[in-house]
Amino acid sequence: MSLDLTPTRQPDHPVAPQFPGRWSPRSFTDRALSEAEVMSLLEAARWAPSASNHQPWRLVWARRGEAAFDSLHACLTGNNLIWTGKAAALVVVASKDTMLNRDGVEVPNRTAGFDTGAAWMSLALQAHAMGLVAHAMGGFDRDRLAAAVQLPAGHTLHCAVAVGEQGPVEALPDDLAAREKPSGRKAMAEIARHGRF
Ligand SMILES: Cc1cc2nc3c(=O)[nH]c(=O)nc-3n(C[C@H](O)[C@H](O)[C@H](O)COP(=O)(O)O)c2cc1C
Repeated sequence: MSLDLTPTRQPDHPVAPQFPGRWSPRSFTDRALSEAEVMSLLEAARWAPSASNHQPWRLVWARRGEAAFDSLHACLTGNNLIWTGKAAALVVVASKDTMLNRDGVEVPNRTAGFDTGAAWMSLALQAHAMGLVAHAMGGFDRDRLAAAVQLPAGHTLHCAVAVGEQGPVEALPDDLAAREKPSGRKAMAEIARHGRF
């Protein structure tokens, strides 16, 4: 049986198709990613904008079949541990918490998290453009993942991202299969106001 995996969500206003088209499924096919494909994903993240162009994002990646993949995968928790085993690659998204100011002093970078969020979204949209899916996860053991990636002092872990080719919903356990559908969004009036809150 061929599956129609086309997301069906409709925007309320005209928007480039990648925005409602990107979503976060959990089922992956067996398709591996080449290192060149992973580099394209990371390249998209690399070109994200950041305050004063400090580029605080730091990315640690591994492909399925590598010992590093198993080591990252083992840090995921709950359901994430189940469905990510078939991901073609995992990317850990972290940031450097400080930046060098004009006096050459390391000071807190207050927009590091904001900027790193832009980098993750760039990666996700690049995956979508390549016919892949990228699914971010905050469900991981923070201490264990920090040890696995040898997180340097002064850095923060934000999320792990599973990337691959979308697989059939039937490949998931029943509870996850029931959730394998694109989500909706809050109404525009709830998130955006004209002129003031
Ligand atoms: C920072 C972050 C953490 C997330 N953590 C998890 C997670 O641990 N497990 C999971 O299955 N999905 C996780 N998600 C995926 C969200 O649930 C998903 O992006 C959201 O429901 C919107 O759906 P969409 O991405 O399909 O549009 C996370 C997403 C983000 C951005």
